[in-house]
Amino acid sequence: MTRHQISAKSNQHPAIRRSTAVCSALALWVFGISLSWAGPSIADAPIVIQFSHVVTPETAKGKAAMRFKELAESRTGNRVRVEIYPNSQLYKDREELDALRLGAVQMIAPSLSKLASLGGADFEFFDLPFLFKDRAAFRTVVNGPVGLSLLKKLEPSGVRGLAFWDNGFKVFTANRPLQTVGDFKNQRIRVQASRVLLTQMKSLGASVSVSPLTNVYESLKRSQLDGQENSPSNIYTQRLHEVQSNLTVSNHGYLAYAVIVNKPFWDKLPHDVRLTLEGALREATLYEHDIAEQENNRALAQIRASGKVKIYTLSADERNQWRAALTPVYQEARGRISSETFSSVNSLMGTPP
Ligand code: LMR
Repeated sequence: MTRHQISAKSNQHPAIRRSTAVCSALALWVFGISLSWAGPSIADAPIVIQFSHVVTPETAKGKAAMRFKELAESRTGNRVRVEIYPNSQLYKDREELDALRLGAVQMIAPSLSKLASLGGADFEFFDLPFLFKDRAAFRTVVNGPVGLSLLKKLEPSGVRGLAFWDNGFKVFTANRPLQTVGDFKNQRIRVQASRVLLTQMKSLGASVSVSPLTNVYESLKRSQLDGQENSPSNIYTQRLHEVQSNLTVSNHGYLAYAVIVNKPFWDKLPHDVRLTLEGALREATLYEHDIAEQENNRALAQIRASGKVKIYTLSADERNQWRAALTPVYQEARGRISSETFSSVNSLMGTPP
């Protein structure tokens, strides 16, 4: 289902739907009522998990959310019902973090970039340009002590981190070729809310705009933005290639997620249900890891086949020029991101980040 089909399903304007949902959540929170878990006194009511995300059901994240739903429902004998709200249907980027903390939804899977606002600057480490040489390097880092300590940093905000999901390497799109660093001059580029990404764009000489993913298509169409960075699967499923003329396969940064839940909700689940859900999530995570790369390869092929954009792949020399121009990003990050994270990643990857 595309963004446009989803919004066509409702008679209400999305902004009204979203603000009504936020108000209801606040009201219920104030009165100390759990929105989603009816509790043991209503014997037959299923436990409802509302899972909100900002991409389409056709992405790796969208498909893995659906796999989690199927596994969770069948393995608990329908004691749990998982309702998935994709493509910012309920909440945009920042809103879904607030909704999770308030208990208006119980599960989300935001990008690590967006999690800095909850768990601190160490989440932005993953935005550093040219950090990982491949997916395996990313997985080694998040499956080790760095990943665990990151998830722990979310707990004071009432959030429990359960898994890391993949997307993949980001590319740039614009209405001009972005080949040399100089090509970024006077370009207004959308990034996610992360100081590392802001410094990245500044170092490339671009001007920068932070906005929710769901607004990017319209902003590009109206020329309020010149370009953006994202994975091919997000570009294709959000139809951004239809409003851009050029795409550079730069693979300059990595996009990944954490699957996180409202901690009070999760901790109150019956023990057996929680264990079953954790097992279902482990399996959905393996599935997500299996399909993420192929979703991006397929999306890039579909973008190419659409004939709407010229695709250019950076040469090794050009990558080196970009890398040199992006040195200040590391300097700025060292002032904010913990030295433990830098040194753990250094020892895991065998080369200094
Ligand atoms: C973005 O905002 O561009 C991405 O974080 C969206 C996503 O969840 O993949």
